[in-house]
Amino acid sequence: MTEPAATPVVRRVDARHRYTVEVDGEPAGFTAYRDRDDRRVFFHTEIDDAFAGRGLAAVLVREALDDVRAAGLRIVPVCPYVAKFLKKHEEYADITDPVTPQTLEWLDGQLKR
Ligand SMILES: CC(C)(COP(=O)(O)OP(=O)(O)OC[C@H]1O[C@@H](n2cnc3c(N)ncnc32)[C@H](O)[C@@H]1OP(=O)(O)O)[C@@H](O)C(=O)NCCC(=O)NCCS
Repeated sequence: MTEPAATPVVRRVDARHRYTVEVDGEPAGFTAYRDRDDRRVFFHTEIDDAFAGRGLAAVLVREALDDVRAAGLRIVPVCPYVAKFLKKHEEYADITDPVTPQTLEWLDGQLKR
């Protein structure tokens, strides 16, 4: 008999500006952000090779975006994976803002700190 697939657990870790995903208690990946006023700017998503290709990034990003909505914030998708996810999932269009050169410049400054 095969074991049932473990349910991924997504958490927001404010101190590290990221949402993490764990499988069976093991860290499997994260999506990182910085907040600019009421906008949560997502800039990098990563799933460890050992967990790749089973839809974990989609689970992680969906829960993160739902959390953004619940907090009354907006989404800015600098991360190409998040941008691609948003193209396929129009239900977040009402809380998504475009990436502007100003946002990229601001993000650069944030990440150099
Ligand atoms: C991209 C990444 C997070 C996907 O993780 P995953 O759990 O294997 O992904 P899923 O199984 O949920 O989804 C696979 C999807 O990711 C897409 N994808 C893979 N690499 C991508 C990239 N660099 N940019 C955008 N989308 C990407 C695939 O096209 C596929 O899309 P589909 O669902 O429309 O077919 C993972 O491959 C990774 O960590 N890559 C290295 C870091 C990286 O390039 N991050 C993205 C840019 S910040």
